[in-house]
Amino acid sequence: MGLRNKDLLSIHDLTVGEVATILDVAKKLKRKQKAGEPHQYLKGKTLAMLFSKASTRTRTSFEVGFWQLGGHPIYLSDSASQIGRGEPIRDTARVLSRMVDGIMIRTFSHESVEELAKYATVPVINGLTDLLHPCQALTDMFTIQEKMEVLKGRKLVYVGDGNNMAHSLMYACAKVGMNMVCASPKGYQPDPKVLAEAREDASHTGCTITVEEDLFKAAKGADVLYTDVWTSMGEEAERDIRFAALHNYQINQALLDVARPECIVLHCLPAHRGEEITEDVLEGPHSVVFDQAENRLHVQKAIMALLMSDEVL
Ligand code: CP
Ligand code: NVA
Repeated sequence: MGLRNKDLLSIHDLTVGEVATILDVAKKLKRKQKAGEPHQYLKGKTLAMLFSKASTRTRTSFEVGFWQLGGHPIYLSDSASQIGRGEPIRDTARVLSRMVDGIMIRTFSHESVEELAKYATVPVINGLTDLLHPCQALTDMFTIQEKMEVLKGRKLVYVGDGNNMAHSLMYACAKVGMNMVCASPKGYQPDPKVLAEAREDASHTGCTITVEEDLFKAAKGADVLYTDVWTSMGEEAERDIRFAALHNYQINQALLDVARPECIVLHCLPAHRGEEITEDVLEGPHSVVFDQAENRLHVQKAIMALLMSDEVL
């Protein structure tokens, strides 16, 4: 498979085979890490990690993961770099490309990540933008596969804001052949362009990607219930109007009751208990959110190794 030296900006850019390869390599690397077997596929390499937004999971999993692969990660926040003082992204891309072997970025505008990738000569990995969160959604496919074995034909219901998480899940489900319903109120439904592209991908894998305002209708027979915060990073000023619009879009026991009995509950975290998910469901037997969080490490190691390693994995 040809992921070497490519960027990972959006799951929509990946082939069905490339998504499957990432999940397979993640499984192999997770097994090796648990068994204490060496897997230093990135020995001597360096990764720059650019963060314009906060992070617990993404920063830790990229940093620890790159180190476990034998490489050296460098953390650069806006305030600790010249990015915060306005150095153009195209200059940052060309300078870093002469010093490091890969760049991971978490920022606001998706276009600036595309610009970074255009000017960088090393692989660029999207660690979240306002539009997409591909590493999380690939991790989610891995987690569902780990818990339920088969992805194709299953039903994932996303509850709440049609945001970056919803968008990447739409692309991911379309690639693996999972049916997805995005249950969101008017005004908070996913970007029509992303929806159209995900539907085009879904037409090749034989699944459906739909949007539904009626939450209980959407959740009927779900294999996976998924939610994310009502207010994403950068949207804090809209908190009250978002709360008013989204307050019925919550994963709670009543919603679980209409899903399949073996339904699993996912959340990318951080969770806001009592808002998009209740405490009892988040901490209950259907929730796999902490396995999901751990899997960020394994899946991102697979992504970094596939894009950056000189070895055949
Ligand atoms: N899910 C996720 O990306 O978490 P962080 O914001 O903590 O990185
Ligand atoms: N939608 C959330 C995801 C956080 C991991 C945000 O962008 O803040």
